[in-house]
Amino acid sequence: MIIAIDGPAASGKGTLARRIAAHYGLAYLDTGSLYRAVARDIRHSGASLEDAAEAARFARTLDASTLSDPGLRDPGVGDAASIVAKFPEVRQALLEFQRAFARSAPGAVLDGRDIGTVVLPDAEVKIFVVADTEVRARRRYNELVSRGEPVTYEGVLAVIKGRDDRDMNRAAAPLKAAADAHVLDTTTLGVEAAFAAALALIGAHQSR
Ligand code: DC
Repeated sequence: MIIAIDGPAASGKGTLARRIAAHYGLAYLDTGSLYRAVARDIRHSGASLEDAAEAARFARTLDASTLSDPGLRDPGVGDAASIVAKFPEVRQALLEFQRAFARSAPGAVLDGRDIGTVVLPDAEVKIFVVADTEVRARRRYNELVSRGEPVTYEGVLAVIKGRDDRDMNRAAAPLKAAADAHVLDTTTLGVEAAFAAALALIGAHQSR
């Protein structure tokens, strides 16, 4: 079984995808980590995030063993990832890695922005996770504060809005729900309730 989970920043899709993968014993790929790793590498090199050719070069030579680097979660890396993610050359370079991952496992859960629309349009189950912007900003703010990051709620909200805008309005594989995706709104749902709702969607699909 292949499950595609997409949604905007801090919608809860990563936590949900990880839980679903563990529940069904499926492999899991956080595709945002690929874009984050490209952003990290380009920053370390001193090149500009707006240099498409350089970003594509890093995407083509990405070392998959560095995808669990905790530095990928640093504030600023998600925003930088969203900048390099707008380049079609970068997306193309990362596409085959994502498809090969899904093919190699007996089943997999991938989360990102374009999994149901572009990466795995034939996925058996597609879930598009949404939540109100303020609620997503509050969740991300709490997460960063608990890690001791010196952030303000207003600052986090502005970054989330900027990322939504960039991810939804780019020409290449923009963030949007696939026509056959189930929309799951987690605005008023905690982690457990969101997980239960996702299992119900997947269960209904399996019993069809
Ligand atoms: O899921 P995330 O917040 O870790 O993703 C970081 C950025 O990477 C996101 O703002 C846009 C980009 N991204 C993408 O364009 N396509 C994906 N499938 C996953 C992430």
